[in-house]
Amino acid sequence: MRYKFTSILSCIFLIASSLTLKAGEGMWLPMFLGQLNEAEMRTMGLKITAADIYSVNKGSLKDAIVLLGGCTAELVSGTGLLLTNHHCGYDAIVKQSTIEHNYVENGFWAMQRNQELSSPSLSATFIVRMDEITQEILGGVRDNMSESERTKYIDQQVEKLKASYAKESWQGVMIKPFFEQNRYFIFVTETYNDIRLVGAPPSSIGKFGSDTDNWVWPRHTGDFSMFRIYADKNNRPADYSAENVPFTPRHFLPISLDGVKEGDFSMVIGFPGTTDEYLPAAALEVLTRTTNPARIGIRDRVLSTMDREMRASESIKLLYATRYATVANYWKKWIGENQGLKSTKAVEKRREYEAEFTGRLAKKPELQEKYGELINTFNTLYTKMEPYMGNQTLYSEFQQHSSTITLSLNCIDLINQFNTKGEAAYIEARNKFLAKLDAQYAGFSTRVDRQLFTVVLDSYLKNVNADFLPAESVQWKQSFQGDWQTMAEALFDESVLRKKDDLKTLLSKEPSKAVEIMQKDPVISAILAISKTYKEKVSPNLLAYTEELKKLQRNFMKAQMEVFAEKRFYPDANRTMRVAYGQVKGYDPKDAVEYLPYTWLDGIMQKYIPGDYEFDVPKKLIDLYRQKDYGQYGQDGRMPVCFIGSNHTTGGNSGSPAMDGYGNLVGINFDRVWEGTMSDINYDPTLCRNIMVDIRYVLFVIDKYAGAGHLVEEMKLVHPKAGNSKKKSKP
Ligand code: ARG
Ligand code: GLU
Repeated sequence: MRYKFTSILSCIFLIASSLTLKAGEGMWLPMFLGQLNEAEMRTMGLKITAADIYSVNKGSLKDAIVLLGGCTAELVSGTGLLLTNHHCGYDAIVKQSTIEHNYVENGFWAMQRNQELSSPSLSATFIVRMDEITQEILGGVRDNMSESERTKYIDQQVEKLKASYAKESWQGVMIKPFFEQNRYFIFVTETYNDIRLVGAPPSSIGKFGSDTDNWVWPRHTGDFSMFRIYADKNNRPADYSAENVPFTPRHFLPISLDGVKEGDFSMVIGFPGTTDEYLPAAALEVLTRTTNPARIGIRDRVLSTMDREMRASESIKLLYATRYATVANYWKKWIGENQGLKSTKAVEKRREYEAEFTGRLAKKPELQEKYGELINTFNTLYTKMEPYMGNQTLYSEFQQHSSTITLSLNCIDLINQFNTKGEAAYIEARNKFLAKLDAQYAGFSTRVDRQLFTVVLDSYLKNVNADFLPAESVQWKQSFQGDWQTMAEALFDESVLRKKDDLKTLLSKEPSKAVEIMQKDPVISAILAISKTYKEKVSPNLLAYTEELKKLQRNFMKAQMEVFAEKRFYPDANRTMRVAYGQVKGYDPKDAVEYLPYTWLDGIMQKYIPGDYEFDVPKKLIDLYRQKDYGQYGQDGRMPVCFIGSNHTTGGNSGSPAMDGYGNLVGINFDRVWEGTMSDINYDPTLCRNIMVDIRYVLFVIDKYAGAGHLVEEMKLVHPKAGNSKKKSKP
């Protein structure tokens, strides 16, 4: 039934869809909600006003939401308690862990305030207010300015405004371009640096399913951790001090215990990082055909190398776990993204959109004159750029995955310092390098890196365009019969970089001598040849093309907004605060498959593999499951775990609050579904879903699993569906 219904609907939808915004799509600016979104949001189930979400005059939802590192977090008490993801707090949790106190493995809970752990790597930034300053920045830009004159002028305006903008002494300002530099906004911010770890579940809950389940629905991860903001006695930002007190927010989110059901309104507010929703079809072609496959290909080999070694040794697993997760996260996302772009025929649809664009231009001579050449120019430019872009991607991957390559690049930097700036500069840089050397070598295994080095060098030399191969490669080919793997191993085994002490001895030599030896080292000289060739043959051209592209993209954005004047536009993500809204909603990814929007603790037990590093389940959780001891957090005798919705999110939205129509917290955003990972480029309402952990599962873990109910006591729990959204209920 449902299938038929949706397919008829989607036919009607398709006809209209090249122009209208798709339900759920959009990362909106908080200050324009009243103008652009409020009416629609209310028909979807929003019960509060746009001013309750964003206001500069009174406490509003935005005052409960902070940028925390690269993630988002939300205030859930009047005493500075913050919720975010486990993977966002991960680094802070790792830094507090030792063999005796392994908080990553076992979790951590402060049973008293004085047990909360200072986490200096984290800071929390509030948005005090935002204002549009397009006129101030662009008002004096003239059409006859060259790109570099334009940039210089804008930079000056930005600096002037930053220096003169009204703010308090403890506040900061930030100016960012929107809509491909067609509009500018200024943000007044407050950043708190005294952030303390309050609680984290064990990884078997917070990271349950790990990389296998990453980007996948159905999901069962309790991906949350808890921190507290501390402030000085005046509630202002202050560096860590024992004298500091819990921060009092202007607003914090009440927590709904009513749960969600399919069709409910949902809203996610946070700091999404980067999207590219307004690219021409030609850009999508290059991405799917060249750049994504290049980075996926090299990472395939890097990951399988690490995986093999990690499975064989416990200590290697520990050493490489974070690196593996980081490399795997985007590797997997790009695979999903490419599949999704193909399955939704993104390129074809973008071409249709461009045809409509061109058709409309043809009817308006003044627009035709301004924008008539845009699409053709894009096509030509991308054709020229494609090999350079492919190479840039390869080179960027080449630099990332082998510690020996990183060390080589450090040595090359020293060589350059010596050759261009002289001995004093060399000595300064060398001493810095030496100071970090022990830590650098402690971060990898030489045996594993020999393999990674081989895989990376081989992938690069095999895939790079013949034109961009270094001249030395002719010699290399002769010496090793074109077998790059054998060559890589031979170079590695002869290099000084293999042994930390050898490198230290080398660096202790007199500068000119040290530089001479480094230049002759087989690995360093090979990496130097590759990076030099890249810098000579790829970078300069790419730089020129990119300048041209930036201008084109800016004009194309402007053109789209003029030509499709009836359409609502939202700016691409740029790590500023955005509001996404949609519904709690399942999806049908392929024939005969239909996903429901929620998961349960039963699903954790189905995935349970005793002793497995991804799917083990802690005994206490199994006991609670057996006894169905869910307290006030269960629903009809079961424990909800995660749910999905049609909110448009991206990286940076991790930790963002998922809220109901009243602005109560119902979940924490942490991922997207596999079939919808292309939403950064092409949002498709039938497939794109964000994944949230149900707040009832979070509270259940804090209270029932960890016995930290005193933290729940600090929060405000509500039952909006019973009509008592303001009443506090006792846990
Ligand atoms: N995919 C999510 C995000 O992009 C979660 C990443 C962390 N989890 C992992 N298994 N690597 O950040
Ligand atoms: N896990 C992502 C993050 O760290 C959020 C998921 C996404 O990319 O949508 O922000």
